[in-house]
Amino acid sequence: MNKSVLSPTTFTFLTGIVKTRSGGIIGADQGYMLETRLAPLLKREALRDLDALAARLRAPLSDGLAQEMTELLTTNESSFFRDTRPFEHLRTLLPQLHKARPPGQPLRIWSAACSTGQEAYSIAIILAELAELDPSLKSRRVEIIGTDITAAVLERARAGVFTQFEVQRGMPIRTLMKRFTQEDTRWRIRPEIAAPCRFEKFNLLGDPRSLGRFDVVFCRNVLIYFDVPTKGRVLGSIAQLLAQDGALYLGAAETAMGVTTALVAKPGERGVYGLAAEPVRLRA
Ligand SMILES: C[S@@+](CC[C@H](N)C(=O)[O-])C[C@H]1O[C@@H](n2cnc3c(N)ncnc32)[C@H](O)[C@@H]1O
Repeated sequence: MNKSVLSPTTFTFLTGIVKTRSGGIIGADQGYMLETRLAPLLKREALRDLDALAARLRAPLSDGLAQEMTELLTTNESSFFRDTRPFEHLRTLLPQLHKARPPGQPLRIWSAACSTGQEAYSIAIILAELAELDPSLKSRRVEIIGTDITAAVLERARAGVFTQFEVQRGMPIRTLMKRFTQEDTRWRIRPEIAAPCRFEKFNLLGDPRSLGRFDVVFCRNVLIYFDVPTKGRVLGSIAQLLAQDGALYLGAAETAMGVTTALVAKPGERGVYGLAAEPVRLRA
């Protein structure tokens, strides 16, 4: 590919598509990212360069290609028990929510922007550990719903198979041995851990009400890619679905402060939010 072809017009056009479709902002200094991540797409489509891709995307019937380009430009970095602290907080919160809910009512947990599934499976492992301490949790139905905009990462999340490198990041060795089975150089999450988890495609820019209400939401390391109005819209939508005594976990570099008034930080906690006293409710 001729690297000198990324004109400002093409850059603005391609990144505009990404912003409209996913909310993700790509900075002017990230032209290299377009070139490297889109190179396989250019090759497959026999396109000479990014200008040719832009021309193809301006033509009718280019919706699928635009979506594919958008997904290729998402950043999918994740790891088990990422940042540790939110999972320790969850370990204390889940028993409280279990006690507060009537029997028969499921606990529902949303891993929004779940990428390859490490976050959802970390939650499922904590749940299994808690159920070993309090067997009454075994009778509680728990649903862990992982969603992402990118089809390729959802496929990997559903497969539940991870490389040695991936399981080494953040996972205690005893947890690995107990909750995964080894398949050559890879590790598969055990079926009883995967059982409460399901993975669906969902764009955070859309209306999440079809996903139902949630006791806990993890929405981490995705808002950093959005501008402030988009962060506000996404957090506002999440607040509509969150239980009054539930919690929203954001990433270490993310905050709801100054972005929405629907959520307030839990006292003494970083990155853990609950509903403000009188949240604004969407009409059904
Ligand atoms: C850096 S990963 C974060 C994964 C996980 N939450 C964590 O903290 O480890 C960000 C994920 O957000 C997804 N994403 C980006 N824009 C999105 C959108 N508009 N709707 C849903 N997912 C989106 C990407 O596909 C990517 O998998």
